[in-house]
Amino acid sequence: MVGYAFMGAAHSQAWRTVNRVYDLPARARMVLVAGRDPGKVAEAADRLGWEEHTTDWRELVARPDIDVVDICTPGDSHAEIALAALAAGKHVLCEKPLANTVAEAREMAAAAAVARAGGARSMCGFNYRRVPAVTLMRQMIAAGRLGEIRHVRASYLQDWIVDPQFPLVWRLRKDLAGSGALGDIGAHIIDLTQYVTGQRITGVGAVTETFVKERPLPTESSGLAAQVDGVSAATGPVTVDDAAVFVARLDGGSLATYEATRFATGRKNALRVEINGSLGSVAFDLERLNELEFYDATRPAAEQGFSRILVTEGEHPYLSAWWPPGHIIGYEHSFTHQMRDFIEAVATGVDPTPSFAEALQVQLVLDAVVRSAERGSSWTDVEPTLATVAA
Ligand SMILES: NC(=O)c1ccc[n+]([C@@H]2O[C@H](COP(=O)([O-])OP(=O)(O)OC[C@H]3O[C@@H](n4cnc5c(N)ncnc54)[C@H](O)[C@@H]3O)[C@@H](O)[C@H]2O)c1
Repeated sequence: MVGYAFMGAAHSQAWRTVNRVYDLPARARMVLVAGRDPGKVAEAADRLGWEEHTTDWRELVARPDIDVVDICTPGDSHAEIALAALAAGKHVLCEKPLANTVAEAREMAAAAAVARAGGARSMCGFNYRRVPAVTLMRQMIAAGRLGEIRHVRASYLQDWIVDPQFPLVWRLRKDLAGSGALGDIGAHIIDLTQYVTGQRITGVGAVTETFVKERPLPTESSGLAAQVDGVSAATGPVTVDDAAVFVARLDGGSLATYEATRFATGRKNALRVEINGSLGSVAFDLERLNELEFYDATRPAAEQGFSRILVTEGEHPYLSAWWPPGHIIGYEHSFTHQMRDFIEAVATGVDPTPSFAEALQVQLVLDAVVRSAERGSSWTDVEPTLATVAA
C-alpha cells in the first residue's frame, strides 16, 4: 500500500478485517507500506499492521512476493504508481478519482486493458457502491421495482473549509488534487448514481465557485482538518473549486441534479441520493447508512408511503457475514466489502468493478463539468466511452 493517512488507515482496517469476516479463495497479507517520511512510515506500519515499510513505493512494484499494489495517495501520483505497478504485472487497487486529468485516466485505462491480458486486474476505489443499502438500491432498480427512472437527485455536502483561515492543504491545490469538491466528493455521487441506475451521464450544464480564493499555508500539507499541524503567516491561492453544482441528462432518459460542496455549513459528510421512477422511489442518506427509504407506488393508495428498510438482514448484500439483523454496520465496512470483492475477483480470475475504464468515464464527466462551468454553464456533452456500468 502507498500512503498511510486517511485512506491508508481505512484500507488497512479493511485488509486486516476482510480475512476474518469473509471466507475467501485467497487471504490478504499486509506485506509492505510505502510513505515518504522514514519515521512516520515506520510508525504507521506498526500502528496499521504492515509487516514492513519503505520510503520508496517502487520497492512495492519490484518485489516478486507482492501481488497487489493499493494506491492511497493524492491524485497527482496515482498515474505514475498505477502504470508502474501494472507494467510489473501487479493487481492494482487505486483510490478515486482515478487521476487528476482525463489524459492520465485514459493512459491508466489503456494500461489496465493491456495488463489484463497478462492476468493483472485493476479497480478504482468508489467504496460507496459497497454500502449494502446502496447495493440494494441498485438491485431494486435493476429488478424493475422503480419502473422507468425519471429523476436522479444527488448531493454530497461537507463543511470542513468554511473557515477562511483553514489552511491550503493538498485538496485545495489543482496540481495535487486535480479539482476540488468536484473530483473529491462529486466523483462519488457521479459514480454512485450511474451505478445504481445503470445509466450514464451524457451531458451537463454546470456552475462552480471558489468562495475563499486565498488561504494560509499549512505547516504540514495533509488532507483533512485533523491532520493539519498549524498555519503559517504566508498565504497561497486556492486553485480548485469549493463547490460544483450541475444538471445532467442520463442515457436512460432521466434528468439529474448534482451538488458537491465543502461549504454546506453544518453538513459534515452528507451524501444523499434520491431516485424517482414511474413505479416508486428510493432515497439514501450516508449519515443513516443502514437504511433505505422506499416508496412503492404499486401498493393500494390507502397504504402508500415511504417505508424505511433496515438493511441489516442476512439476505441483504454483504451482510450475512456480519451481525444478527438490526446490529448495524458503519462507514469502514464499505472498505471491507471493497476488499472482499477485489480479492474474490482477483483470486477467481475475473475483473473487479469499477474498472479503470469505468473510472475514466467518471473522469470524462468531471471534465465536462469543468468545461461547462468555464463556458458560462453552456451544455456540454460527455465524451462517450466503451466502458459499461458493470455490476
Ligand atoms: N473512497 C473514499 O471515500 C475516499 C475518502 C478520502 C480520500 N479518498 C482518496 O484517497 C486518496 C488519498 O486521500 P487521503 O484522504 O487518504 O489523503 P491524506 O492526505 O490523508 O493521505 C495521503 C497519504 O499519501 C502520502 N503521499 C502523498 N504523496 C505521496 C507520494 N508521492 N509517495 C508516497 N506517499 C505519498 C501522504 O504522506 C499520506 O500518507 C485521494 O485520491 C482521495 O481522493 C477517497
